[in-house]
Amino acid sequence: CGIVGYVGGQSALDVVMAGLKRLEYRGYDSGGVAVLADGGLAAAKKAGKLVNLEKELVDRPLPSGSTGIGHTRWATHGAPNDTNAHPHLDNAGRVAVVHNGIIENFAALREELAERGHTLASETDTEVVAHLLAESFSSCGDLAESMRQVCRQLEGAFTLVAVHADEPDVVVGARRNSPLVVGVGEGESFLASDVAAFIAHTRSAIELGQDQVVELRRDGVEVTDFDGAPADVRSYHVDWDASAAEKGGYDYFMLKEIAEQPKAVADTLLGRIDAAGSLTLDEIRIPVSVLREADKVVIVACGTAFHAGLIAKYAIEHWTRVPCEVELASEFRYRDPILGQRTLVIAISQSGETMDTLMALRHAREQGAKVLAICNTNGSTIPRESDAVLYTHAGPEVAVASTKAFLTQLVACYLVALYLGQVRGTKWGDEILAVIRDLARISHQVEKVLDTMEPVRELARSLADKDTVLFLGRHVGHPVALEGALKLKELAYMHAEGFAAGELKHGPIALIENDLPVVVVVPSPRGRSVLHDKIVSNIQEIRARGARTIVIAEEGDETVVPYADHLIRIPATPTLLQPLVATVPLQVFACELATARGNEVDQPRNLAKSVTVE
Ligand code: G6P
Repeated sequence: CGIVGYVGGQSALDVVMAGLKRLEYRGYDSGGVAVLADGGLAAAKKAGKLVNLEKELVDRPLPSGSTGIGHTRWATHGAPNDTNAHPHLDNAGRVAVVHNGIIENFAALREELAERGHTLASETDTEVVAHLLAESFSSCGDLAESMRQVCRQLEGAFTLVAVHADEPDVVVGARRNSPLVVGVGEGESFLASDVAAFIAHTRSAIELGQDQVVELRRDGVEVTDFDGAPADVRSYHVDWDASAAEKGGYDYFMLKEIAEQPKAVADTLLGRIDAAGSLTLDEIRIPVSVLREADKVVIVACGTAFHAGLIAKYAIEHWTRVPCEVELASEFRYRDPILGQRTLVIAISQSGETMDTLMALRHAREQGAKVLAICNTNGSTIPRESDAVLYTHAGPEVAVASTKAFLTQLVACYLVALYLGQVRGTKWGDEILAVIRDLARISHQVEKVLDTMEPVRELARSLADKDTVLFLGRHVGHPVALEGALKLKELAYMHAEGFAAGELKHGPIALIENDLPVVVVVPSPRGRSVLHDKIVSNIQEIRARGARTIVIAEEGDETVVPYADHLIRIPATPTLLQPLVATVPLQVFACELATARGNEVDQPRNLAKSVTVE
């Protein structure tokens, strides 16, 4: 969910609505706002995207005020309808609260409130907080203090922002787990889940820590812990360019972000490999001795970041000979994994806020493992709680389906793998030196792929009425196939599955029928050519059974030509780096197919970009 709060000299409604639009990527099941005006509190909320709320505000305008809060929701408790939308109010309509997260003991609290005569209107866990705040305020008359009292009763993960009509110049926020950042302006203050909501107004930010409460006034902010003791906070300057979060002439953020990939890849490599081919990753603060002695690497991540992890495993094991496991973060801690001081855990996350990944890294650290985060969002929770971080420099990624963040995660994984090899004294053979040289050229190759995408778009449009697309790959091509299928599920809402091509004959081949589109990622014919030959046989097997083959193969690879109904060319790269170029056509394919099917590319149904619940 996305949260915004404002107090200052401008119209709170305008600031909050503009902020919510910037945060809509965090959830778009419903939206709502509350403003304090004329001694009272006025609120509006609407199911669906923010445009519905905007329309509601035109039909039934709110009075204007200079203190307000807003919310854009990704539903957890209760259906995404008007009633369950935030903000939630107490019975007297004096308190409004918005919330991100899950309050685990809400059922018990709700019963207690009902016994004390409260009537709760929604099915949400959030409404409980509005009632508790109202009760507490009626005895202490101070919203920040009420928030602290209430937070001490809550269990689970939550970020809350509230206003009270009796304190018209105050917004109060509380943070446990899900992000909350303060923006400090001149005579105005902001609160939001992400700085994108207020960078148009101020670049001066304060990051709230775990279990802190902030009281926001026009002339400043006060931060305490849940017991009221003053808290240490970190102030920082936001250097993201405000225009980086704009569409810049593209129809969708996703198209813009796909196009930005060459730069994102180059930026992530910048300054990290010197002219002699050595890696300079001084920012990894984990002592070199720990990296040298690590006897196992475990990668945890979700969604697209998990696919980057799967590819990293090939690079790490091949270049460093350290065993590497990759695990879905949501499964990790529940199976009691074997971890110790010699385990290096790598947590990959674009947002740095994914709760599953955060919980996995906390578990790893509790067991004594060292955690290195690969992350795109400066100051977010996952890097803050890790022993070290290697930032990807993709810039803000707004479209829900990840593209440029994925490519930069791959680059970061290769860098970590090479660095591990370097500090552990892996023999730097010709192959590794060639890889380092190729990495330096890779951003041009991504650009080349982007220049030749028109036939891919045409093909995607011609497949718009299909029900199923399968994706096959071997070696690092397997995670690429999984990522291609995920993109298609997310964007085109089609049945799409990725398989290891060798596994096909053990079951999935039964799915092949006449004219079924099957995308096959073919590894380079150079080097590991056995792998290449095996997949060419797999293409023949599916084609013999009627599949329509869509083959992604290196320029100059003529062996695939007779078996490809559609051929997509990518530049020659070493096998391990191929995902950087092979994924791009799959992103374009999914994006175009979604458009042809009339789907919302940037905000696919049911999804959110950063999922801050487990
Ligand atoms: C969500 C998004 C996915 C993303 C995953 C992990 O499910 O919809 O696109 O890959 O979270 O996100 P992270 O920010 O941790 O990389």
